[in-house]
Amino acid sequence: MTQIDNYQLLNRELAADDPWGLDANPFERGRHTQMLRLSLAQGSISNALEVGCAAGAFTVQLAPHCQRLTVIDVVPQAIEKARRRMNEPPHISWIVSDVQQFSPDERFDLIVVAEVLYYVGGIAEMRAAVRNLVRMLAPGGHLVFGSARDANCRRWGHVAGAETVIGMLNETLSEVERLECRGESVNEDCLIARFRNPVSAS
Ligand SMILES: C[S@@+](CC[C@H](N)C(=O)[O-])C[C@H]1O[C@@H](n2cnc3c(N)ncnc32)[C@H](O)[C@@H]1O
Repeated sequence: MTQIDNYQLLNRELAADDPWGLDANPFERGRHTQMLRLSLAQGSISNALEVGCAAGAFTVQLAPHCQRLTVIDVVPQAIEKARRRMNEPPHISWIVSDVQQFSPDERFDLIVVAEVLYYVGGIAEMRAAVRNLVRMLAPGGHLVFGSARDANCRRWGHVAGAETVIGMLNETLSEVERLECRGESVNEDCLIARFRNPVSAS
């Protein structure tokens, strides 16, 4: 799938009332419950980053647990929808940005990135995104990653999915736990993993 195909697909999906059924589908709700559990496992969250918010279905769950939260998405429509839904709480910053290019001065003690990285294009772009995510993670910070598995992503026309990205993350970060979410349909099969940045604060 080309990048133009990906953006058209994202824009089309994000125009729906409930993009990807993230609010209504019990599988997606269960997936978010697990993502939240892993996000809270490290204790209090002072400064978090959520990558790829769609219409904010997970943002509404994560935001009350964060002192500060930065939310990015490459599609302006996603940021507009999520922002409207959240009613502008002052501790959230909203930024339209590609995960590969986002370059804040600060570091985050929690980064959540789920069902996003298979949209970036090829393996080189996935690697660039992973490198950038690792760079933004504070020493000792945690990253929660989720994705459909390689096989489903390839069936959908993407280059790779969960297993490939987990392998890349394991080159730099330490995997703390991994779980599997399955629904009734063949498309509902993903992995969620929590990683820790082993670099300690100096
Ligand atoms: C399937 S939704 C996932 C929503 C949410 N993270 C979840 O797990 O339910 C994918 C979101 O990632 C965004 N996205 C795709 N490519 C991106 C990129 N390169 N940088 C930032 N966001 C991206 C899309 O616009 C879309 O809102």
